[in-house]
Amino acid sequence: MARFLMITATSGTNYELAEMFSNNAQEKGHETEIIDLSEIDLPMFTMARSKDPEQAPDLSELIQKMTDADAWVVLAPEYNGSYPPTLNNAIAWMSLDWQSFRSMCTGKPVGLGTHSGGGGAHVIMAMRQQFSFIGADVIGRSCLSGRNKDANPETIDAMIDGLVR
Ligand SMILES: Cc1cc2nc3c(=O)[nH]c(=O)nc-3n(C[C@H](O)[C@H](O)[C@H](O)COP(=O)(O)O)c2cc1C
Repeated sequence: MARFLMITATSGTNYELAEMFSNNAQEKGHETEIIDLSEIDLPMFTMARSKDPEQAPDLSELIQKMTDADAWVVLAPEYNGSYPPTLNNAIAWMSLDWQSFRSMCTGKPVGLGTHSGGGGAHVIMAMRQQFSFIGADVIGRSCLSGRNKDANPETIDAMIDGLVR
């Protein structure tokens, strides 16, 4: 049994996609939790805020959940050929303590998915680059869906299996 964390950048169709991954993992007996970054609603990262203890958010609970999970599935819609600010912002805040961030990410199995207006290939490429850069083990298969294409249940099934080490 593995502990999965589904991390969604938005609370609409990508949250629904997170639920599909979560349901599949639960049917296989895995533990799951969904984190919606838009609900956490972090202030925008700036250097000035990061140096002000009154303004810097407490991310210890999020970081603990990410550390404890055996695998992450990251879901995000494509925004202007990349990923949304909620995801970029959360990564910036979490990486402040760069060494512990790096050790949290290193070798973590990560699966990527999107529900976008179009095909979603650009957001998957952008997330693959980012998560590979921070040391995660991003699996080759990803789940692309959009206005004209539903998520393929077989892809979700194979990805969940591929993330269990
Ligand atoms: C600011 C913004 C930029 C967007 N840029 C793109 C884009 O570059 N490519 C694309 O396919 N869809 C784009 N979309 C559409 C979203 O990817 C699409 O509506 C997605 O399903 C929203 O996910 P959600 O329902 O989880 O919020 C954009 C939407 C917004 C709000």
